[in-house]
Amino acid sequence: MPEQDELYRGREQSQIKHFILKCYLTSMAFKVAQSRRGQLTAINYVDGFSGPWETQDKTDYEDTSFRQAIGVLREVRTELAELRGARLPIRFVFCEKDPDRYKRLNAAVASDTDVDIHCIPGQFEENLGRISGICANGFTFTFIDPTGFKLATNEISKFLQTQRGEFLWNYMADHANRFLTRAGLEEAYGSLLAEQKWADRINDTALATLRNEEKVLVVLRDRLRELDCAKYILDFPVFRPRQNRVQFRLLFGTRHAAGVAVFRDVQKKAELFQATKREELKQESGGPLLITPEMHAESFLHTEGIDGSAARSAARERITACLAEKGPMSFGKLIAPVLETERLTETALKDVLVEMRKEEQIAFALPQRKRKPQSETVISLA
Ligand SMILES: C[S@@+](CC[C@H](N)C(=O)[O-])C[C@H]1O[C@@H](n2cnc3c(N)ncnc32)[C@H](O)[C@@H]1O
Repeated sequence: MPEQDELYRGREQSQIKHFILKCYLTSMAFKVAQSRRGQLTAINYVDGFSGPWETQDKTDYEDTSFRQAIGVLREVRTELAELRGARLPIRFVFCEKDPDRYKRLNAAVASDTDVDIHCIPGQFEENLGRISGICANGFTFTFIDPTGFKLATNEISKFLQTQRGEFLWNYMADHANRFLTRAGLEEAYGSLLAEQKWADRINDTALATLRNEEKVLVVLRDRLRELDCAKYILDFPVFRPRQNRVQFRLLFGTRHAAGVAVFRDVQKKAELFQATKREELKQESGGPLLITPEMHAESFLHTEGIDGSAARSAARERITACLAEKGPMSFGKLIAPVLETERLTETALKDVLVEMRKEEQIAFALPQRKRKPQSETVISLA
């Protein structure tokens, strides 16, 4: 078994979280670098809830998000230096409220002197002014990965509003499923949803058929949009490794269609990684050995996963609804509204549009020698 797998034994959900974080950081950093010629835009990596937390590697902390983030952005910086001949400015801000963990965090990064690291002791929500000062320019990625579901969303949203950037927010779905109606937690939900009348919104009849965690998810996404933290919010469910139950959801917030497309590409890799891992664990505990975990994961995703048949047919309905509501629109403008709600990559969206055109459900003209819609191709209902 590879060393990395050993470090995450029994908490494979953290391995999946770190896999998504690393894939996203790599894609995002290259995308941000592409957006300007000459000098590279600085990247600020803000981790409000750094840990170390439940780490197995007590020497190098290789199984922590802070170590993984430093490693991956350092690699991107090296590659960009070769490609562009310019040094990528990166700043790391790590915040940790527990004094002992803070001490360990500080010691763990003390020798990383080639990167600009700011370790802040105390509560994230009480240090946002200081963090804004550190991230005065550049593109800010914020990672919100608390231990429970109580969060000071109101304060955090004021920080996210002012940043040019994106965020990943760990929403503890399993807690919400189990504890939504438990007495004594009203204040915690009010704080998470930044809404005094949160119970009225959760109990809206339109949400009646949803599970508890889905109800909270709908309201949380709406609240984050209302508080202007992001324009588009997508989510990736991370399952309990050995059960068919969502443990937490990673909510991704962005203001740009490009961010939406990047996240769906990351999701495609992450779904395969998660499905393979789950199948490996099943086979370890005596499940069927007829096909490899990778083969099983691929066939499962072909129907159930991102770009799978179920997602494609849902996307068709969404495309039709968008065009019916807003009239003809360019492919570039259609990407975000469709990909925000449907589990589809940009590449698969193009394929679906080509199929719908063949079936004469929609119409668009293509430039010579092009077989798929381009950013400016105008799409309309046939
Ligand atoms: C789930 S752990 C973080 C795990 C880490 N992101 C990883 O993947 O390796 C959450 C951490 O946040 C810290 N924490 C909890 N509430 C906090 C707050 N309000 N501000 C800063 N840190 C907090 C906890 O002590 C804990 O170390």
